[in-house]
Amino acid sequence: MYLSYSAVLLLTAIATPTWAGLVKQNQVKSKYDFIIVGGGTSGLVVANRLSATGSKSLSIIGELDAGEDSVKIPRLALEHIEPKYQFNITTVPQPQLDNRAFPIYAAHVVGGGSTINGMFFDRGSKGDYNLWRDIDRSQAKWGWDDLLPKFTMSETFHLPPSEISSLNVTFDIKAHGTGGPIHSSYPPFLFPATRKFLDVFSDVNITVQRDGGSGNLGAFWIPNTLDPASMTRSYARSAYWDPVSRRPNLDLLTGNKVTKIIFDRNKRAVQVEYASSRNGARSTVGARSEIIIAAGSQHTPQILMLSGIGDKDTLGSLRIPVISDLPGVGQNLQDHPAFTPNGSFTNDLTPNPGYLKDDIWNNEQFQLYNANKTGVYTTSVANEGAFLPLSQVTDKVNQIIDAIQRQNPAEYLLPRARRCLVDGVKKQRDLILKGIKDSNIAFAEYVNGITPSTPVALQKPFSRGFISINSTDAFSDPVIDFRTFTNPVDLDIMVEMFKFWRKLLTTQTWKGLGANEIAPGPNVTSDDQIRAYIKSNAVPTIAHPCCTAAMMPAGLGGVVCPELKVYGVDGLSIVDASIMPIIPSTHPVATVYAIAEKAAEIIKYRHRLF
Ligand SMILES: *[C@@H]1O[C@H](CO)[C@@H](O)[C@H](O)[C@H]1NC(C)=O
Ligand SMILES: *[C@@H]1O[C@H](CO)[C@@H](O)[C@H](O)[C@H]1NC(C)=O
Ligand SMILES: *[C@@H]1O[C@H](CO)[C@@H](O)[C@H](O)[C@H]1NC(C)=O
Ligand SMILES: *[C@@H]1O[C@H](CO)[C@@H](O)[C@H](O)[C@H]1NC(C)=O
Ligand SMILES: *[C@@H]1O[C@H](CO)[C@@H](O)[C@H](O)[C@H]1NC(C)=O
Ligand SMILES: *[C@@H]1O[C@H](CO)[C@@H](O)[C@H](O)[C@H]1NC(C)=O
Ligand SMILES: *[C@@H]1O[C@H](CO)[C@@H](O)[C@H](O)[C@H]1NC(C)=O
Repeated sequence: MYLSYSAVLLLTAIATPTWAGLVKQNQVKSKYDFIIVGGGTSGLVVANRLSATGSKSLSIIGELDAGEDSVKIPRLALEHIEPKYQFNITTVPQPQLDNRAFPIYAAHVVGGGSTINGMFFDRGSKGDYNLWRDIDRSQAKWGWDDLLPKFTMSETFHLPPSEISSLNVTFDIKAHGTGGPIHSSYPPFLFPATRKFLDVFSDVNITVQRDGGSGNLGAFWIPNTLDPASMTRSYARSAYWDPVSRRPNLDLLTGNKVTKIIFDRNKRAVQVEYASSRNGARSTVGARSEIIIAAGSQHTPQILMLSGIGDKDTLGSLRIPVISDLPGVGQNLQDHPAFTPNGSFTNDLTPNPGYLKDDIWNNEQFQLYNANKTGVYTTSVANEGAFLPLSQVTDKVNQIIDAIQRQNPAEYLLPRARRCLVDGVKKQRDLILKGIKDSNIAFAEYVNGITPSTPVALQKPFSRGFISINSTDAFSDPVIDFRTFTNPVDLDIMVEMFKFWRKLLTTQTWKGLGANEIAPGPNVTSDDQIRAYIKSNAVPTIAHPCCTAAMMPAGLGGVVCPELKVYGVDGLSIVDASIMPIIPSTHPVATVYAIAEKAAEIIKYRHRLF
């Protein structure tokens, strides 16, 4: 029935009108079956899968990348991100981080974060997704077992190339996909000290897993979102958009921003309002089946609130008519706070990252990349990591559990937090405490390892931040407050994680390379000194924001149900990282693809599009 003239419209922010699949504003049809608000990582997955059914879709988002080296060449992935591909937003000052304010990372480009991230392609552990499942019986289908096929559905894994065979990269082929759109692979070049990073963890009796993709904790190799045929980034645009951009039932409108969702009298989402600039004319486009929000964890709550979905008092103070009073919208913000102690090897293997500062070597490597697609320019940030439960990082686990259990969770939320938010954070806390006792969720991440300056990143913070709005202007930035370390136990855990880093420096493997600590340095020894160092050096976000429109029961402050529909309205769903209830202990992009693959199936099922 839907087939009359059905599609998916994606809406985003800057136009290149000649490009296949893109529509100009005057070509936008008056109605589509589906409208996807955002053409980032998750939006493109859902657009691809829904348009394959013949339904009409439109997506609106930021701008298209122009294939810059910084997008395509792995080595340049984090060295230079085009400023125009990111929103320019700053957090409010963070009192527990010496009152510093921080830039946030939010992509403003077709493909979203997958276009500008560090190209890690790892997953959380079984315990991570089983937390989502265990929040409520209704979420039984969101555990590891149900998500694993969605992870593999997005992936085509390639065997490690022969050039790095001496490093013994291990993997479990059963954990990977072989026919999905995203290519995952290892670069043909790795610094020789790379392997030592895993040996360091063996030295402290931590299991080096065959493959982290199997869902176990420990140290392991991590592939990149790297297409080995071209040795360039594999991302949502190249994988999910470019191959289908000519589908006649799929339109993408760039250069516009969604200003709000419009509901009919029955609270059914029926239209999307958008504009190309703050003072530009507002246009609307209608949706027959569903409006799908995929604007990312920072902008999804903003769009919801502008549309009348959020805490009634917040909306009331801005005179936004309340469509659905959902106090959880924008709350529950989580990320991975991190800092990087400075260390060096006095006896490093060669070549090593220091060579990158040598213009001649660097230049040779760049030519090698251009001529032969080999060398250091095929590498991005790192290819291994360690994700460890608290019990492997510190012997103070019981003290930490006691400290959390003694807390009244309400005291660590915003003043006068509504009952459902308190109940939600308490439920999360109890599940996380169980995960600590069972040692099946990771608290600490150490990555990189080519130098001892590995970031120390807290994976399961107890503090909860929020996204809000203080203006009804969709072109104003949302207010972003991570509230990092507002639960002081997070900082205590970071202190233990830092001491564990110091222990790594004393392992036989790193001692053999002459590992030494430069900063904070030997005069920073007491817990108070370490705490002070972390407060003045940590960042609240490493571009992993999530959980701001969480899939949880409404009574626990949730925003979407397990079928990803927004509570209190009809015809509106969310498919991006906002729906995660608890941040997984991993780099998020693979999880975002998996969620979006699952979301597409849920939506197809809902509208009988099989
Ligand atoms: C970001 O915003 C700040 C403050 O408004 C401004 O000074 C800066 O130039 C902007 N940066 C970019 C890359 O646009
Ligand atoms: C790789 O594995 C082989 C065989 O198990 C072993 O002899 C060799 O030392 C390993 N290489 C590294 C770098 O660990
Ligand atoms: C690792 O385990 C071995 C054997 O059980 C033990 O002798 C050693 O002390 C342990 N090392 C560390 C760092 O825990
Ligand atoms: C780490 O220490 C080295 C040597 O003092 C210095 O050159 C480098 O800039 C430091 N790195 C950071 C990130 O502070
Ligand atoms: C590329 O590989 C070929 C064959 O191995 C080699 O002769 C050539 O020197 C390489 N190119 C560069 C720029 O190193
Ligand atoms: C909104 O909050 C931001 C801080 O995130 C602040 O810079 C701005 O002035 C506020 N705007 C209004 C209208 O209060
Ligand atoms: C440690 O020494 C450094 C360098 O001399 C100094 O900058 C820093 O303030 C000292 N820190 C403490 C906690 O004494």
